[in-house]
Amino acid sequence: MRVLVTGKNGQVGRCLMDQGESYGFAMFGMSSAELDITNIRNVDSVISQIKPDLVINAAAYTAVDKAETDKKSAYAVNETGPKILAAACKKLDIPLFHISTDYVFDGESDIPYKETDSVNPTSIYGRSKLMGELAVRNTLSKFIILRTSWVFSEHGGNFVKTMVRMARERDRLDVVSDQFGGPSSAHGVAAALLKIAAQLEQTNAISWGIYHYCQKPYVSWHQFAQEIIERATKMGLVDHPVEIAPIPSSQFLTSVKRPENSSLKTDKLERCFNVSGGQWSLDLEMVLESIKGVG
Ligand SMILES: NC(=O)c1ccc[n+]([C@@H]2O[C@H](COP(=O)([O-])OP(=O)(O)OC[C@H]3O[C@@H](n4cnc5c(N)ncnc54)[C@H](OP(=O)(O)O)[C@@H]3O)[C@@H](O)[C@H]2O)c1
Repeated sequence: MRVLVTGKNGQVGRCLMDQGESYGFAMFGMSSAELDITNIRNVDSVISQIKPDLVINAAAYTAVDKAETDKKSAYAVNETGPKILAAACKKLDIPLFHISTDYVFDGESDIPYKETDSVNPTSIYGRSKLMGELAVRNTLSKFIILRTSWVFSEHGGNFVKTMVRMARERDRLDVVSDQFGGPSSAHGVAAALLKIAAQLEQTNAISWGIYHYCQKPYVSWHQFAQEIIERATKMGLVDHPVEIAPIPSSQFLTSVKRPENSSLKTDKLERCFNVSGGQWSLDLEMVLESIKGVG
């Protein structure tokens, strides 16, 4: 199967490109310079050259705070881009796998979110991602939308890398302890998409729709930070004691109100595709090893 990956230099994009061949797929990864998903002509020309059997959209505008003042770019990449990709997929009658986010929810629920729960994004990023979901759903019948949360890896910028960097520089880190979610390695997100793609290749008939993916257990940012720093210290990535102090989100000043509960219920993915995220701690260990390797 020929798989076209947009946003190949992002966290998930890189992991898709790293793993795809091991599933027997011919992988065609595009950076934003090679394929700008907001440009119809660019999309049509690349897709007609590559003739993919499946497109996986790993491209997104992910700067949550910046999106508040850069609304146009956020909507261009997160809404218009998926709309253009979906239209191109429709022309070729091929499926689109698209990645979305826990930020489509307001975080007010006391329990993990199901795919059928009401959406109510509270940020421009969340709204733009929701519009991207709708564009895909309204254009295509053959689509997978995988909503995930708290993505980390050795690539790009993310919470794990930020915590390690800051712990190396400071003796104390204040971390929000009243927001909860499921950390998800980009490796795991990529593997979930590729496992679904493998089932598509085998059966040509899968249950299209929206799925939730995250790893377990659900934790607060503070608990996640404690685990990151404890492991990083054992590995020698951090060479001094660092206090991880819990703070309420009201003390963490940002332009965006983040969901208090970002936990995603993942049963549907397990039931329909036998895909489970497993424990984030295993992937955290691997990611920290990679960060250590780079120095
Ligand atoms: N990161 C998280 O914590 C998180 C949480 C939940 C869901 N998600 C979702 O997971 C997906 C993957 O996220 P990620 O963390 O891997 O993102 P990322 O590391 O920020 O990568 C996004 C990629 O998209 C590319 N891109 C931006 N604009 C583009 C355009 N117009 N055309 C083509 N490519 C473009 C970027 O390329 P350049 O670098 O060249 O701009 C970048 O390589 C996204 O859909 C995101 O919304 C992420």
